[in-house]
Amino acid sequence: MRTYRVAIVGTGGIAAVHADNLARTDGRAQLVAACDVDQGRLDAFAGKHGIPATYLTLADLLTEAKPDIVHLCTPPMLHIDQALQCLAAGVNVLSEKPPALSLADFDRLESAQTQGGAQFSCVFQHRFGDASTAAQQLIGGTDFGRPLVARCDTLWYRPDSYWDLPWRGTWNAEGGGPTMGHGIHQFDLLLHLLGPWEEVTAVAARQARATSTEDLSAALVRFGNGAVATMINSLLSPRETSDIRIDCEFATVELSHLYGYSTDNWTITAAPGHEDQVTRAWNSKPLERGSGHAAQFLAMYDALDAGRPLPGDAASARQTLELAAAIYASAFTGRAVRRGEIVSGHPFYGGMDGDGLGAKVLDSTALNRPAVDAAV
Ligand SMILES: NC(=O)c1ccc[n+]([C@@H]2O[C@H](COP(=O)([O-])OP(=O)(O)OC[C@H]3O[C@@H](n4cnc5c(N)ncnc54)[C@H](O)[C@@H]3O)[C@@H](O)[C@H]2O)c1
Repeated sequence: MRTYRVAIVGTGGIAAVHADNLARTDGRAQLVAACDVDQGRLDAFAGKHGIPATYLTLADLLTEAKPDIVHLCTPPMLHIDQALQCLAAGVNVLSEKPPALSLADFDRLESAQTQGGAQFSCVFQHRFGDASTAAQQLIGGTDFGRPLVARCDTLWYRPDSYWDLPWRGTWNAEGGGPTMGHGIHQFDLLLHLLGPWEEVTAVAARQARATSTEDLSAALVRFGNGAVATMINSLLSPRETSDIRIDCEFATVELSHLYGYSTDNWTITAAPGHEDQVTRAWNSKPLERGSGHAAQFLAMYDALDAGRPLPGDAASARQTLELAAAIYASAFTGRAVRRGEIVSGHPFYGGMDGDGLGAKVLDSTALNRPAVDAAV
């Protein structure tokens, strides 16, 4: 097993989670450098986590620190350009979500990965607990049966002050609201469990928050395997929860948590007459490890050691980003959107607000007070 030289770019809120989780990887990673445009924040971060080298630019970090992996913990609009910079230098990338602000931006990765030999992957830490691996293996198999109907809800609460960070709440910096920034974790996990989606019908609204994107979206999604799911992405919900429920022929699989799960957050219920097979199948799986960044980091090192594609690789991250684009496209055009439909030339290929259509629709239907009032 190699020890990987890791650097963190962007030393704000989520970077601390990365540093803490890197310390839980049993010596398989060494945090060798950090970068931020804010010198004070960078120095404080490096001091706290014992990082030997600091840089004000990514270019200097890549040249001098020579990391094997760069973790991008910067605001969303920087992810793709910084990922391209790393890939051009032959350095693997683990980017925080969302991977890009649009499918057009994301597709710039394809040739960069082919040319440089390094790989891109996106942080989707909920895929990586033992229970989600077990559920993925059992859903659609003989013991649990075919998935038929599902629910995927990200019901979170954010007060107006949440949008005080300058990059929050705009199409240009974040690419959207709770669909792109919050629910993306939960529906990424649903896609991981159910496989490719086929068609989506959605609504999006700005109900109450001082943001220029949506603060709520709701979607109806049909999957390639025939399953049908409803999906809500909300920042308006005082009792917060992140829930997935999948009803298969012989078992209901449920996950209820907030920002990360252990096996205790999963419930498996057998259909009458199928108790033995369902219980035996679930208990035959390893179920110790919870979800989280460290679990994804370790899976990444395993893949690099073995020369395999990275978990959370570009293809799987694109599928999740495409569903986000389709939710917006359906919500703002009022019609169903199929997978594969949003290609170059489509208004939602270049941006999640469809060339300004999203802003117009939200402005014309918004129920909320104007932003200045809401912030009072
Ligand atoms: N996976 C998760 O559960 C999770 C949770 C929270 C946030 N995130 C994601 O993490 C990313 C960062 O979020 P945050 O809350 O940490 O933001 P933040 O604003 O707290 O931190 C971003 C940092 O990037 C720095 N920065 C800005 N421009 C830079 C540049 N050009 N080069 C280097 N550094 C630069 C800023 O100075 C700041 O310190 C976002 O994409 C967010 O969606 C993911």
